[in-house]
Amino acid sequence: MVCALVAAPGATRLSGVDFECYIAAMKDLMGRHVVLGLSGGIACYKAAELCRALIKAGATVQVVMTEAAEHFITATTLQALSGRSVYTSQWDTREANSMAHINLSREADLVLIAPASADFMAKLLHGRADELLSLLCLARPRETVPLMIAPAMNREMWHHPATQRNVAQLQADGTLVLGVGEGDQACGEVGDGRMLEPHELLAEVVAHFQPKHLAGRRVLVTAGPTFEPLDPVRGLTNRSSGKMGFAIAQAAQEAGAAVTLVAGPVALATPRGVRRVDVTTAVDMDQAVSALQDEADVFVATAAVADWRAAQVSEEKIKKSPAATAPSLSFVENPDILARVAASDRARSGALFCVGFAAESHDLLAHAQAKRLRKGVPLLVGNLGPATFGQDDNRLLLIDDHSVTELPLASKLALARQLVARIAQSLT
Ligand code: CTP
Repeated sequence: MVCALVAAPGATRLSGVDFECYIAAMKDLMGRHVVLGLSGGIACYKAAELCRALIKAGATVQVVMTEAAEHFITATTLQALSGRSVYTSQWDTREANSMAHINLSREADLVLIAPASADFMAKLLHGRADELLSLLCLARPRETVPLMIAPAMNREMWHHPATQRNVAQLQADGTLVLGVGEGDQACGEVGDGRMLEPHELLAEVVAHFQPKHLAGRRVLVTAGPTFEPLDPVRGLTNRSSGKMGFAIAQAAQEAGAAVTLVAGPVALATPRGVRRVDVTTAVDMDQAVSALQDEADVFVATAAVADWRAAQVSEEKIKKSPAATAPSLSFVENPDILARVAASDRARSGALFCVGFAAESHDLLAHAQAKRLRKGVPLLVGNLGPATFGQDDNRLLLIDDHSVTELPLASKLALARQLVARIAQSLT
């Protein structure tokens, strides 16, 4: 393990926009056609950003607006962002057959209503069809064109029993009802009911289209470095950015798993839908994993855990001595989290599938094969640490008891999705 002496970590996180860019750069929605429907609500301003994000991710987007939505944002804005004329009326004369509701819904891979107002949800519930957007939702082929809605309303409206009843019934009817955000509302009140942010909606759409290899599985991931304090301002850590582990957590969540991510100090946003437990030291990480491992079906240890910690952490900052002699430090070994989990009864019986990582600087294959046996794991993923730390790309070697598979250079998220598919095969 490569260690560096650094100042204590202050984990700033990437903003949602950075995360959106990271996802969008993948062109995950290439070839997908989304009908983006806007009903009336102040959250229409976020739909503009969402439209742009969907297109950056490779989708084509056809915007359809209700009359109420046009009070909040113009069709011209959405037309400029989507590069297509916006539809607002069932009687649009551009449709030669006067069947905009059929034509628009047949070519879609997904109908996404964002924002979905309380009134629009009530209309969907009753199968009303008195304007183009609700009409096309009703007319869409349900088996092939899913309907996803992003509710947006005042907190009292959101919590009203009528709305909650509607949410439950819409879900029972097969509608994918997304959650809501919490915070300041346009009316001046504070609470639940805000529409999710554009980058959160984009993550939901991207996840929707991923294969559900791990549906019903529970995945525990460790990620990032650990930080072992020497005194109140300094410590031992390493150059792991946590990106590979976060990508695996995201890929597993997209694949339908319930994911818990135990993260050392890193500057990354939590992937949507992933439960995150932040830790600092190897001992903290070991304790967090101990508490969670019995609830997992898969354990993926990507964390670059410091092998050593200071035998004694100084309560005060270690000062330079007048004689300029270097302080003498002694260390004790940290727990080997992966080896401990892999030796547990559940792992040995096959109830918990363990995956290790090896970040090496040289002789990757030989070191990784030896490490797989030493750690006692069925699958070990090798990569060259110095070449990948902090990067968005990587290349991996997957090593099990009878094969070595090379995954060539790709984004960490693309590699994570391949690894998740490989893990899923081992579970069946
Ligand atoms: N690992 C762990 N706990 C540790 C050390 C490592 O869980 N105390 C896990 C890592 O998350 C990774 C695998 O073990 O999945 C290999 O980590 P690595 O640091 O490469 O291995 P070490 O055992 O520390 O070997 P070395 O530093 O000698 O290469």
